[in-house]
Order: sequence, then C-alpha cells, then structure tokens
Amino acid sequence: MADRTTDPTWTERAAKVLPGGVSSNVRLPVNDMVFDRGEGPRLYDLDGRDYVDYLLGQGPAFMGHGHPAVNEAVSKAVTKGMVFGAQHTLEIEATEKLLGAIGWADMARLGVSGSESDHGALRLARGATGRRLVIRFAGLYHGWYDTVLMNWQGNTGTVASKGQLEHNLADWLVLPYNDLAAAKEAFAQRGDEIAAVILEPMVCNSGALLPVPGFLEGLRELCTDNGSVLIFDEVITGFRLAYGGAAQRFGVTPDLGVYGKALAGGWPVSALAGRRDLMELLGTGEVNHSGTFNASVMAAAAVDATMDWLKENDPYPALEEFGTKLKDGLAEVGRRLGANLHIQGLPMAFHVSFADDDAPATDNASLATLDLARYAAFTDDLAEAGIWVAARGIYYVSITHGQAELDDTLERFEQALGKELARR
Ligand SMILES: Cc1ncc(COP(=O)(O)O)c(C=O)c1O
Repeated sequence: MADRTTDPTWTERAAKVLPGGVSSNVRLPVNDMVFDRGEGPRLYDLDGRDYVDYLLGQGPAFMGHGHPAVNEAVSKAVTKGMVFGAQHTLEIEATEKLLGAIGWADMARLGVSGSESDHGALRLARGATGRRLVIRFAGLYHGWYDTVLMNWQGNTGTVASKGQLEHNLADWLVLPYNDLAAAKEAFAQRGDEIAAVILEPMVCNSGALLPVPGFLEGLRELCTDNGSVLIFDEVITGFRLAYGGAAQRFGVTPDLGVYGKALAGGWPVSALAGRRDLMELLGTGEVNHSGTFNASVMAAAAVDATMDWLKENDPYPALEEFGTKLKDGLAEVGRRLGANLHIQGLPMAFHVSFADDDAPATDNASLATLDLARYAAFTDDLAEAGIWVAARGIYYVSITHGQAELDDTLERFEQALGKELARR
C-alpha cells in the first residue's frame, strides 16, 4: 500500500492515541488512509488525490459531503445557541417535517445515533407489550449495544465482543431473513411472548438483500395478529430508498421506525418514530427515553434543512438513474474483463462481490457462498485506483454523483480489476 500512504506521521499519531488507530470498530482493520476533506461525491487525501466515494461515511453523506444548504442552515441556527435542555421551535418544526416525509408515523423523538434509537425502539416495544422476546434476522445490524450486537456465522448469532454476556442475548429469536415460514412457526409456538419483530426492510449491512415478495407483508400480518410491534430499522434505508424510506418503497407500514444516517445531511442525528399509542408511552414516562443532546439546535436545523431540500428537489429519479448506470457499467466492465462479478440490490444501495453463480443471495447463509474475502481484498486495488468503498461490498450512491463520477469510476474500476485479475 506504500504508494497510497498519505502522511505517515498522521497514521502514526493515530495509532498512538486512537485504539486500533480508529474511533469506531466498524473501521477496523485500519488502513493507511487519512483524509483531508470531502466535497460532494469525492474524498481527498493529504496529497490532494481524489477518491470517488461510495462509502459515504457508511451512509450519512447521502447528500454528498458538506451539503451547502444543510450546513448553512446549521451555521445560522447555532448563532442563537445550541443545547437548551428544553423545547425550541426548530425542534418542533423539524419533527413535523420528518413525520411529513415518513408519512405513516404520528410522533417522533430525535436522538444522536442509530444504536441508541434502536435501543429505544426495543425498550418501547417490550414496555408496550409487557413481553420479552424479539424476532430478528441473521446478519442484520442494529447497533453495538450489549443486548443487540451479534457475530454471525451463516444464520446463527453469537456474542460478538468480550464484555458482552451470553445472557444479554437470551431474549432474541434469530431467524433467516426472507424466511416467512420460520417466522410463522415462531409465532405459532410463542406468539404471546413475542414483543416485536425488528429488521432492516432491505438488508444493507450484509450484502444488499431485497425482501422477497410477501415477506414484509407476512411479517406485518403476523405482528398485527399477535399484538407484536413491527420495527423497521431504516437507519440505512430511510430517505435513501425513497423520501418515505423502505416503508414507502415496499408499501408496508411498521409500528415503529428507526432512522439515522441520511436523515440529516451528515450531521449526527437519529430518530425513533411511530404510532401515537406506542410513542405516547415515552410521553407519560412509563417508558424512559432520554438524552442531553436529543434535538439539539444543530440536529434540528440539519433535519429541518434536509427534509426541506429533499422535498423541494426530489433527487430520487436522478439517484435511481445514476445508480442503474453505475451498476450496469460495473457489470459490463466485469464481463469485458472476464471477471465473475456478482452485483445485486437497488441502484442507490447495491452490493458487489465475486461469484460463479448469478442467483441473488436472499439471506445470510446464501450471502456467505459469495467470494466476499476476494472482494474485500480487491477494495485495496479500488482505493489505489481512486474509488473509496466498504470492504463488505456495499455501494451507496449520493445525490451529488454525476457523469464525471460515473466516467471516473468505470475507468478506475477497470484499471483496478485488471490489476486484480493479473495477480490471479
Ligand atoms: C441498520 C442499522 N441500524 C443501526 C445502526 C447503528 O447506527 P449508529 O452507527 O449510528 O449507532 C446501523 C449502523 O450502521 C445500521 O446500519
């Protein structure tokens, strides 16, 4: 990697003060990259080299890096203060607009991270139903908290960290994603113990797995029939798959929804939204949900401006068009060079790996049959060529990617793939 090392002193300094050289374990294993800045769809290293960015900070830079309308709104708002420990007008307006975008939810609470809002959703579901068990699906990520984080082998989950206790994970029923029959069976056996079903309606954390027809609808019906709470973890899909997120795109309404990432133009904000009768339990104090920084002025301003911008500019048709061209273009490069690329998902969030079989992965077990390790190693070639992507294969497209990024990406991708194939 020597030729893309930026300034070794920064890497060395990072290794001394940041455990593992990083500030989040999701960024491990560390590479030698230190960025100077991001601008729209590109990142720039300390030597001024640009990288077309499809990681987008793991999703938040959906509007590109440093969106002017959002940043101007935040800068203006904070001149009047930042954290009041009390209600303010922008918080109320931003929440109204957020609910307007989501469409199906009556009330919302802003938070800071997806992990904490997922935690709030699970507590609320258990508090509302007085039940213990929650169904989840293998391979999906709902944050790093003790009672949630899991390591996945195929469709089986285990404790993922020292310090996490086995009993922390005792209240889950883990099923394969897209397996409605397994969910029906679980409800048939233990329906009156099941507080909730939580899932990414489209899985972006392991592969890009689309719900098979009837899966989300079936879960909806099971939850309704059994008095359980359906939670859509839309931390990635919210505002990305559509203005109204996956619920709008797939036409299925949950009882609670968790949002983050694309919600605030890159600012650290999350949200828990839901049906009034459930959310009211937070208001009565029966279920606790707290946070000093919840709905800070900067968070509220960022959400307010993001909701306005997305509503006024409707970037979704262009996003779909760009993502389709990118997916098709990468597939064409793969064909031309004789590489067995495997690409699946939606234009705004798709997954690239290597496989001899074209059949789309539908759950964590079928995802594991793809050559994910080969693709992860290939991302070093991509970085060297000037494409910044997640080693786990997901590509996120921002509303700022355009023709120049498409041209550069396809050229750089071909160069990187040629190099990878030559080594084999
Ligand atoms: C679906 C999903 N839920 C929850 C989280 C946790 O969000 P955060 O990293 O903001 O705590 C993530 C983060 O990647 C996620 O993808």
